[in-house]
Amino acid sequence: MHTLKGTPAHLTGGPAGVKLPRMARTQVGIVGAGPAGLVLAHLLGERGIESVVLERHTRDYIEHRVRAGLLEHRTVELLREHGLGGRMLELGQVHRGTELRFDGQRHRIPYSDLYGGRTMLVYPQQELVADLVRLRLAADGEIVFEADDVALHDIESERPSLTYRENGACHELECGFIAGCDGFHGVSRPSIPPGALTTYGFELPFAWLGIIAAVAPSTSEIIYALHERGFAGHMLRTNEISRFYLQVEPDDDIANWPDDRIWFELRTRFATNDGWTLREGPILEKSITDMRSFIAEPMRHGRLFLAGDAAHIVPPSGAKGMNLAISDARVLSEALAAWYGSGSTALLDSYSETCLRRVWRVQEFSNWMSWMIHKIPDGVPDASFRRRLQRAQLEYLTTSPSAAASFAENYVGLEDV
Ligand code: APR
Repeated sequence: MHTLKGTPAHLTGGPAGVKLPRMARTQVGIVGAGPAGLVLAHLLGERGIESVVLERHTRDYIEHRVRAGLLEHRTVELLREHGLGGRMLELGQVHRGTELRFDGQRHRIPYSDLYGGRTMLVYPQQELVADLVRLRLAADGEIVFEADDVALHDIESERPSLTYRENGACHELECGFIAGCDGFHGVSRPSIPPGALTTYGFELPFAWLGIIAAVAPSTSEIIYALHERGFAGHMLRTNEISRFYLQVEPDDDIANWPDDRIWFELRTRFATNDGWTLREGPILEKSITDMRSFIAEPMRHGRLFLAGDAAHIVPPSGAKGMNLAISDARVLSEALAAWYGSGSTALLDSYSETCLRRVWRVQEFSNWMSWMIHKIPDGVPDASFRRRLQRAQLEYLTTSPSAAASFAENYVGLEDV
């Protein structure tokens, strides 16, 4: 039931506490049930603020969609503090260091020791999404799955609304605010009038061929390997499932990559001088992803607030997308809580600036790391010069405690940006 307790009368059209028809009104309409939308719904719910989440896909689809899987220390803490991390803490794997490989040599960066003992957690995004959905529904939160044709209206007014179709029937949801948490390809950002946003974008000259393989990991810590044939990454998921990445051309086609070729490239690019071996197994999934940077500023227009991938994309090298999405959700929940609690607009007004500080820091780190771990393609201007810079960068990072400490705080996630 959507009772608008605490909602100012100008939003409800009537006195606070009035019961309104189901689905007719809510305080915050949230588009998208990814990490940003679901965490926001939880943090708002905890403060007594009503929301409805509209998700285009089925529950089963979003709970099995393979995505990222590395959670920063502060993300884990946030989820734990709000009672959302039970299964994550039980099943996730704590990580304290990572490995950089080049010239057949292995270099460990003990990021936890270098950043006050903070650790990372490996826990697949789709598992977290499944936990958040289950907990939200258990708390009587409303999530509409398979919401078709979601459209945003009157976002510059004090009564924005969402329309959508569910099982063919049209619905309208009047909102106090709309949170656009619908990812890069969602409908929220394009609903902002042209000219109101400044966008920044950059396509990196490499792509990742990612696979999921039914094989135990060959490492206990994530490996980033730079080889003359290109980057290879060994990420972790569970004891039975491993994730690998290979640098490929941006316009490459997955049809060019039969399983044997993938394992050959992985073996070759990971090879070390000390006889390390790669475990191989059946490939369950494979796909090619572009590496893109994108930021839209400001992350607000009228009563629409963008959060997560809807507002920004960072290259996946630093595994930051999910962490940024959850960070935005936290900032937005606090801003909305201040407004619903006291009518203060200060945090809503500073939302975009607060989030963008972190977004740009992470964007810089993710780009820096991307250029360090990928083979610089011949077509890139000054490629040979850049390759020598890259070599200097790798040598500095793996020999200087100060450089490693700087990497550690960015990789694990800066606390106060
Ligand atoms: N209507 C309703 N829902 C939509 C629409 C739409 N028009 N468009 C997209 N969605 C849904 C998607 O199906 C998805 O479930 O919005 C959700 C957006 O979730 P994410 O893409 O996971 O975005 P976000 O919550 O910002 O999390 C960012 O996801 O893409 C990864 O690597 C990225 O880890 C990062 C994280």
